[in-house]
Amino acid sequence: MFRGRDCLSLMDYSRVEIETILATATDLKQKWRRREPHEYLRGRTVAVLFEKPSTRTRISFQAAIAHLGAQSFYMRPDELQLARGEPVKDTARVIDRYCDALVMRTFGQDRIEEFAKYMEKPVINALTDLTHPCQGLADLLTITEHKAKLDGVKVCYAGDVWNVCHSLIVAASIFGFTLHVARPKGYEPNDRIMKFATDRAKATGAQIVITDDLKQAVKEADVLYANTWHSMGGPEKEKEKRLKDFAPYQLNSEVARGAKPDYIFMHCLPGYRGEEMTEEIVEGPHSVVWDQAENRMHTEKAVLTLTMI
Ligand code: CP
Ligand code: NVA
Repeated sequence: MFRGRDCLSLMDYSRVEIETILATATDLKQKWRRREPHEYLRGRTVAVLFEKPSTRTRISFQAAIAHLGAQSFYMRPDELQLARGEPVKDTARVIDRYCDALVMRTFGQDRIEEFAKYMEKPVINALTDLTHPCQGLADLLTITEHKAKLDGVKVCYAGDVWNVCHSLIVAASIFGFTLHVARPKGYEPNDRIMKFATDRAKATGAQIVITDDLKQAVKEADVLYANTWHSMGGPEKEKEKRLKDFAPYQLNSEVARGAKPDYIFMHCLPGYRGEEMTEEIVEGPHSVVWDQAENRMHTEKAVLTLTMI
């Protein structure tokens, strides 16, 4: 079902396939907690190429690869001949001859798609401007663990309308849960994402609402999800304007009063206290951000195992 497949976006998967990834992640999480060996990828090699900074994704992938008994090679783009103009298609075919998979963080989705086109081995998206599927999988696992289900859950997302937001929109459309994206007008989701989500939502009954009304988005929410207002790449160049535009969209304890009393607070991190969230909400009793960060590793292990075995 998964062998040899790329993981470029959650749009690549059906609901049943994502449920299989989450069940595998839960099994691997239990094994890791019990310190049971799970070296299913012994002798394999994984290339790890990051063209943007990362803390969670890079460390969780490299830890996951080590726990699975495989070897990772971390590469900075400036250390490769890519930096001197070697074409992507040549780099991709060479990596394909040495390694059993590529984990890649980059800017355009077209760039990772080009790597995938020229590689036989699985290419796993560790974040592009368009999507962050590994974050989306960890988010689904975290919500399931804390809310016991995805059906009927209302998620309020407040933050940049970018990769993480897009992966949540796709996830909501596949699983049929309610997602309100609160953002200032003018910051709109990508057309390709919305087209996929609108089509899929017709079958699943998902309600996906893009709104400038934070209060309405928070109302009776089970999950409050914050994200930076100035993502890496293009958005960070507009930081000053975004700090003003997004200022009314901060998630804090006052705003959270409109949510369900047992709401959980999520954030993909890195988070900026005093901007999209406050210290008291991220450090408060509703926050599950460290569980969410840990789940990155378990879901990534599931993707690596399922695609590489
Ligand atoms: N959430 C996430 O992807 O974090 P990093 O940028 O630190 O990898
Ligand atoms: N939207 C953020 C997520 C970081 C994990 C960014 O792209 O910078």
